[in-house]
Amino acid sequence: MKKVALCAAALMASATAFTQNIRLPEPQKSGGKPLMEALSQRRSARAFAAKALSDQTISNLLWAAYGFNRSNMRTAPSANNKQEFEIYVALEKGLFLYNAKDNVLELVKQEDLRAKAGKQDFVATAPLNLVYAYNTGKMADEKMAYADCGFIAQNVYLYCASEGLATVIRGFVDKDDLAKAIGLKPEYAITLSQTVGYPEN
Ligand SMILES: Cc1cc2nc3c(=O)[nH]c(=O)nc-3n(C[C@H](O)[C@H](O)[C@H](O)COP(=O)(O)O)c2cc1C
Repeated sequence: MKKVALCAAALMASATAFTQNIRLPEPQKSGGKPLMEALSQRRSARAFAAKALSDQTISNLLWAAYGFNRSNMRTAPSANNKQEFEIYVALEKGLFLYNAKDNVLELVKQEDLRAKAGKQDFVATAPLNLVYAYNTGKMADEKMAYADCGFIAQNVYLYCASEGLATVIRGFVDKDDLAKAIGLKPEYAITLSQTVGYPEN
């Protein structure tokens, strides 16, 4: 009996130590600051508190960024409706891919890759970095891809402004190194990365 209890405890301990896919809570699609107030607050920040973001906040943030707001259509526009972007989410506990359909963070690597997401010091310690990568097979025109990425990033800026969060979009990224660390498929290309967290007081 004692042995069984010990085995169960060991199993539970190993299960909690192992990060898996994260099923996010339903995004909250109402509330927030009025648009003109959010625009008044929109800005870039480069100092972040170490405090983690809740799963609810991550769900809301990702839905605002690139979730579905109509059948098969997104909160961000895309040229010819290519919807060519994937969003990787680098957290301390691992690297995840945002599955907007199922509202799940799919585990890509159980590794803290935040430091690889940009060349500025705050990137490694801020709680979350988004990495924007697009499918070059779906979208051949790089300029259009960057334009599409800009809309996603601005959605994140406005969500952050509305919620009192800090963010900055960043091009100062070693994209080859980051693509390698992620294990990005060859048909994908990284455009920009965006840090999100609480402002440092
Ligand atoms: C395409 C793009 C790339 C950027 N890259 C970086 C970057 O690598 N690092 C950074 O700290 N800020 C970066 N920024 C943020 C700009 O520096 C910032 O938007 C600008 O200084 C204006 O400040 P504001 O956003 O507070 O209005 C980038 C902005 C854009 C649009």
